[in-house]
Amino acid sequence: LDPARFISNRSSGKMGYSIAKAAWRRGAKVTLVSGPSSLPAPFGIQRIRVETAEEMQTAVNEHVDSADIIIKSAAVSDFKPAIYHQQKVKKQSQEEGVVELARTPDILNELGKNKKSGQILVGFAAESENHLEEGRRKLQQKNLDFIAVNNIASDITGFEADTNKITLLSQSDTVELPFTSKEHTADLLFDSISRKLKN
Ligand code: C5P
Repeated sequence: LDPARFISNRSSGKMGYSIAKAAWRRGAKVTLVSGPSSLPAPFGIQRIRVETAEEMQTAVNEHVDSADIIIKSAAVSDFKPAIYHQQKVKKQSQEEGVVELARTPDILNELGKNKKSGQILVGFAAESENHLEEGRRKLQQKNLDFIAVNNIASDITGFEADTNKITLLSQSDTVELPFTSKEHTADLLFDSISRKLKN
């Protein structure tokens, strides 16, 4: 909004970092495009730090052609302030605190539109209600191979938690992963995806 204020959300990055580390342990060359997070860069992994949705899109697009699998767990903002104030806005200057918002690019949606043949695209859906319906809708709408649906209405399965419980949807399947650590969830995610692709 201005040099002192911003709009963000509760995402910690823990799920994405766990996925990056699990992929690296399995022998993948990993590029981690990370929004603001206090987590340290994982060993062996190229980390690109970004702040805005546009910066994330640029970084993702620079690496998209060389990626066999793209997993987008980032909680990208859907809106940004329509106006950025170069100087800190004074409270005396406004009677009411109305902030106008503008849409950000939907990075995953664009990736789905331009998907290379053979490339695997995995999205995340953080939902507080109608989890599976919303997940299926996004799977189709964004042309994804898989979508991991999680419940953010709970303290132990969503933003900031060290644990998660994911339902992995594909065009033909619904796989319930158990409640477990985010680290273990990442491993189970790759087990499920590779089992499905082998079939
Ligand atoms: O439609 P929704 O935002 O719930 O979809 C979530 C999925 O889309 C996540 O995989 C997220 O990383 C991605 N996304 C994105 N760009 C946005 C918003 C969401 O890539 N602006």
